[in-house]
Amino acid sequence: MALNGLLDIELSVPAPTELAAFWERRGLRRTDDGVLGTADREVQLRIAEGTHRHLSALHMSCETEQDLADIAGRIGAMGVRSTIGGTTLRCIDPVFKHRVVIDVGAPHPLSPAQERAYNGPGEQVRANTRAEAVVESEPRPPRRLGHFVLGTPHLAEANAFFFDGLGFKVSDQILNGVATFGRIESDHHNLLLQPASTSYLNHYAFEVDDVDAIGKAGTAVVAERPGASVVGVGRHNLGSNIFWYLSDPAGTFFEFYSDMDQIVDDDVWERDHLRRDWEGSDGPAGFSVWGPKEPPPEFFNPLDLDVIGAAREDLGWD
Ligand SMILES: [Fe+2]
Repeated sequence: MALNGLLDIELSVPAPTELAAFWERRGLRRTDDGVLGTADREVQLRIAEGTHRHLSALHMSCETEQDLADIAGRIGAMGVRSTIGGTTLRCIDPVFKHRVVIDVGAPHPLSPAQERAYNGPGEQVRANTRAEAVVESEPRPPRRLGHFVLGTPHLAEANAFFFDGLGFKVSDQILNGVATFGRIESDHHNLLLQPASTSYLNHYAFEVDDVDAIGKAGTAVVAERPGASVVGVGRHNLGSNIFWYLSDPAGTFFEFYSDMDQIVDDDVWERDHLRRDWEGSDGPAGFSVWGPKEPPPEFFNPLDLDVIGAAREDLGWD
C-alpha cells in the first residue's frame, strides 16, 4: 500500500530540441514532441523549455486510491496542498518546486535483458564466435529510467516531504543521515537526497542491460561530446550498481547503470544491511568498490550551480 513506481520525469532546459535529439541518438524513441521512451516504457523523459536546466515534473504511481488520500493527508499536515482528481494526485514539491503527479497504477513490466554469452575459466559458453558486444552494430539502448538525485540546502524539508510525506522507504544513509537513498520500487534507490548550495537535479539515471551496454553507450556519448565523461566506469558500494556518469547537452549529469541491488524483502534488507556503518569515506561507503575512488569536485558542485541558484531566485523559488 504505497508508491510503487517511478514512471517518468520532465526536464526543462533552455534548448529542449537539442536534448531530445541527443536522447534519440542514444536509442530512446520519440512518441510525441518532447516525449521519449524505451522499448518497454513509452514515456520516460519529457523535455520542455525552461529558463534553466531543472527537473520540472516527477510522475510516479501508487497502488490504490486510498494511497492518494493517505499521501494527501501526510503532505497536507506539512503544509503542502494537493488536489485529487479521479485517480490522480497533483501537488508542487515544496523545496524543488517541480510538479508532482501520482497516478494509481504501476510501471509497465520490463522484458528481461537478452543475455550475452560470456566465456569464463573452464567454461566455453561462446565457442568459435566473437563476443556479441564486439559484433553488434549499435550500443544497446537504455531500458528504463531508474532514479534521480537531488541536491538542496533544505535537506530537512526535502527529506520530510519525500520520506515522511510521499512515503519513500530509506535504503541507506551516509554522513549521519545527511545523504539518504530512498526507494519506491525494488531498486536500491529511485532517489538520493544530498546537500548542495542550491536546489537542483544532480543526475538522472537509465538502467541498461549490462556492463558492455554501459561501456558502449558511454563511449558513443564521448565520441559525440568529448569531455562529457564525468566519472566512471566503476561499481558503487551503495546500491552495488556499475556506473558511468556523463553530462547531457544541457549540462545535467546522467548515469548509465546496471546490476543494482534489488530489495524485495524490506525486513531482510533492514535487518542485514541498513544498520552497517556507512560513515567513513575510506570504509565500505566509499564512492566505489572499483573504479574511480572519488568523483571530481564538480560532481557534487556542478559549475552552473550559481546560474541555477540565480534563476531560482528570479522565479521566487528559494
Ligand atoms: Fe545514480
